[in-house]
Amino acid sequence: MLPADTDHAVAPGRLASSTPPAWARSLVGRVPELLVEQAHLEKKAAAAAVNFLFRVPATPAQHRELSALAREELVHFERTLRLLAARGIAFAPLAPSGYAERLKRAVASTMPTRLVDELLVAALIEARSCERMGCLAAALCESDAEVAGFYADLCTAEERHHVTYVEIAGGLVAADEVRRRWSVLARHEAEVLRTLPAAARLHGGLGESP
Ligand SMILES: [Fe+2]
Ligand SMILES: [Fe+2]
Repeated sequence: MLPADTDHAVAPGRLASSTPPAWARSLVGRVPELLVEQAHLEKKAAAAAVNFLFRVPATPAQHRELSALAREELVHFERTLRLLAARGIAFAPLAPSGYAERLKRAVASTMPTRLVDELLVAALIEARSCERMGCLAAALCESDAEVAGFYADLCTAEERHHVTYVEIAGGLVAADEVRRRWSVLARHEAEVLRTLPAAARLHGGLGESP
């Protein structure tokens, strides 16, 4: 994962903020909740990829990439379910954290920017997931090597996924427009995390606990 870009414009692929190390340290004792959420996130990620398959005027190669991405998210979903079962943790329903919903509020209302924005929001979610999975893998390596390895494995896939979404967005509009929208959306994403309340969630905020 590229480091956060704190310069004036946020380059495509970069995040506008870095998660502080204390974030993952505060969640070391909350692994069961994190794993339940992870299963929900993987299922949603697969559904989002399938949704793009129907809506994006992609090339045949990009359609294959999106299809493979959707399948990989389902593999992640199944792997997370196996981890939950092995630990005797129920895959219980979970209310959304508010992160994705708040990210989507910055999506343009008219086409084609709307579809570009939706792809870039998906890319930002993948990029942030990768960054935070790396933080969790480092924080858990001594207390829970199995889950640390799980997050490290997932992180490498999510990093590829964010590149795929940025590339597909680049096929819809000029490169300058992708750069402009990424910078706007990345700054919005950082602000969403800064203001969301802290929670045992992969995309939990950096604000006060409720
Ligand atoms: Fe995934
Ligand atoms: Fe992903």
